[in-house]
Parts: sequence; structure tokens; C-alpha cells
Amino acid sequence: MKVLGLIGSPRKDGNTEKLVNAILDGAAEKGAEIKIYHLARMDLKPCKGCMSCKLEGKCIIDDDMQELYKEILSADAIVLGSPIYMWEITALTKTIVDRLIALTCWQPCAKPEYPNLLRIKTRLVLAYTYGNPDPNNFNQYFKYMEGLFSFLGFDVQGSIWVSGTIGPDDILHQSEIFEEARALGKKL
Ligand SMILES: Cc1cc2nc3c(=O)[nH]c(=O)nc-3n(C[C@H](O)[C@H](O)[C@H](O)COP(=O)(O)O)c2cc1C
Repeated sequence: MKVLGLIGSPRKDGNTEKLVNAILDGAAEKGAEIKIYHLARMDLKPCKGCMSCKLEGKCIIDDDMQELYKEILSADAIVLGSPIYMWEITALTKTIVDRLIALTCWQPCAKPEYPNLLRIKTRLVLAYTYGNPDPNNFNQYFKYMEGLFSFLGFDVQGSIWVSGTIGPDDILHQSEIFEEARALGKKL
């Protein structure tokens, strides 16, 4: 079983990376093969809206998303982590979410044999960190994101988040979250 970790924070070794790693550690404890990508270290361009993916059967942008498409399609489970920037996921994370349009068939596809996430049902955990100390501050947003990924065809296993993290190590003061994160990873 392969579990893919996608880290959407530009900050190296920050709170989000630590949270995603804890989930992946849990999955590894159960024998999963782990692969991690730091989106900030990749060449990821925004979707151009050209809809070539619907006509040609693949995204025509020549960048590192081509590698990620393969990884996403071959993963049994994915952990997508992002800090909250201005009440939502980082632009970096949103870039790859938009690019998932190439894997969807919720509109007529010229090439219906094209890999379709709606049939794949890859398991997904969403992980967030944010600075506001209120642990319920983004509950509605996190529910909305689960709805989006369910619509895209993922088998959403749940969301985990840590509030009150400003400095890159602040998550370490909330050690109970690591147990929860590892348990989520084991479940994956
Ligand atoms: C540009 C920017 C925007 C942010 N916007 C928010 C926000 O809207 N709400 C919030 O609670 N925290 C916000 N934060 C704080 C981060 O979400 C928080 O520090 C997070 O833990 C950073 O994750 P990292 O350590 O993985 O980089 C923002 C931080 C930055 C740099």
C-alpha cells in the first residue's frame, strides 16, 4: 500500500510538515510505503483553463504536476496538508487542487477512458495548521473542503487540524495531536 504525502506549506519543517509526517508515520507503522512531496520545491504552474485535458485526454502543461498526476493515480491513500493563509489553503495547495480537473469527468470527456478520480476512490486525509487560537475557527471551511474532495471522487477519511501555531515549532506544544495524527495514519 502506498501513501502519498503532499505538503502545501512553503515553510520547511514547519507545523504542517510535522503534522503530515505524524500521519505518515502512523501509516508507515502499519507497513505502508510512504512518498512525500513538498509542493514549494516543485515546478507547479496554475491551470490555464484551456480544457485540453478534456480534449486530449491529458494536461498539456509540462511541469512537475505530470509526476504528481502519476503519483496521485497510483496512491492508495493521500495526505494533503496545508497551512491556512487568509482563511483558506495556500495558493500553492490550491494550484494542485485546480489541476485535478484533468482527472475528473464531471463534464463530458472526449476520451472517457481517461483516468477518472470519480472511479478511483483514493482515500484522503486533509491536514491543516493555522495561527488563530480558536480550534473551531475554520470548522465550516474544513467541512466544505471535505465536500469538495468527496465530489471529486476521493474517499475522504477525515480532517485534522492544529490551531494556534505561529512559530514553526508551535505544534510541538500540542503533543496530544501527534497521537491523533498517527492514529489517523494507521487507519489509512
Ligand atoms: C500569508 C499568511 C496568511 C495567514 N493567514 C492566516 C489566517 O487567515 N488565519 C490563521 O489562523 N492563520 C493564518 N496564518 C498563520 C498560519 O496559518 C500558521 O502559522 C500555520 O501554522 C503555518 O504553517 P507552517 O508552519 O506549516 O508554515 C497565515 C500565515 C501567513 C504567512
